[in-house]
Amino acid sequence: MSGTLRIVGLGPGPDCWVTPEVTAAVATATDLIGYAPYLARLTTRVGQVVHGSDNRVELDRARHALMLTAQGRKVVVVSGGDPGIFAMAAAVLEAVDAGDPAWRALDITVCPGVSAMQAAAARLGAPLGHDFCAISLSDNLKPWPLVAKRLRAAVEGDFVIALYNPASKARPDQIFEAFAILRAMKAGATPVAFARAIGRPDEAIVITTLAEADPAVVDMSTLVMIGSSETKLILRPGAPPFVYTPRGVGGVR
Ligand SMILES: C[S@@+](CC[C@H](N)C(=O)[O-])C[C@H]1O[C@@H](n2cnc3c(N)ncnc32)[C@H](O)[C@@H]1O
Repeated sequence: MSGTLRIVGLGPGPDCWVTPEVTAAVATATDLIGYAPYLARLTTRVGQVVHGSDNRVELDRARHALMLTAQGRKVVVVSGGDPGIFAMAAAVLEAVDAGDPAWRALDITVCPGVSAMQAAAARLGAPLGHDFCAISLSDNLKPWPLVAKRLRAAVEGDFVIALYNPASKARPDQIFEAFAILRAMKAGATPVAFARAIGRPDEAIVITTLAEADPAVVDMSTLVMIGSSETKLILRPGAPPFVYTPRGVGGVR
């Protein structure tokens, strides 16, 4: 039997944001591999082998998945959100790149998912309607000075900025350093949103301004959205404002 490897994204939370392609891949898998809390979101059937692991062993997990695929298993590697955004698809391809040349001939497919920034944007309105970028604030895989440089460059380019991995117990202070950079370079009235646990029962959204934002509210389940100079609010009676970035710059249509 020839093996298959499907690297799938489970979306940010609810089942309704999981694609039919991903549901089918999970249903037919012999082996499910991933960070244990993501695997816990799956309904598995008798006979499927679930290989849960810690979040810090991405490359080991990737190599394990490739070895099982080479043995003829139907393997699914799961990520939260989209598997290509700060997630397992790149780790698997790194392992292919550096590993057994025979792995290059394996049947490997990346199955997309809804990323946290898309889900947060949908809840907020349309903040990603014009040019934007995504930056992970984690310095686990790159040095902090590079994070700070990219943040300054994103502000310089006037992008809407989606900040992933804004804080964790081990990294509580970087979000404050990030906001110091943002406040030194951008208008205080810039819209800012803290979108926490989007699509989950404990979802919480704060819409504020750069001047008034309290970065202490963020945790590892939060996506931070920083507006560009064009991002605006539409105030609504009895409902949260819409946050949106017009399609054209300076009113161009
Ligand atoms: C390692 S990254 C994985 C990103 C994922 N692959 C994606 O496409 O959304 C984890 C970060 O994604 C963001 N995130 C994931 N799920 C989220 C959710 N439901 N609500 C808000 N942010 C979320 C947080 O910034 C979190 O620290």
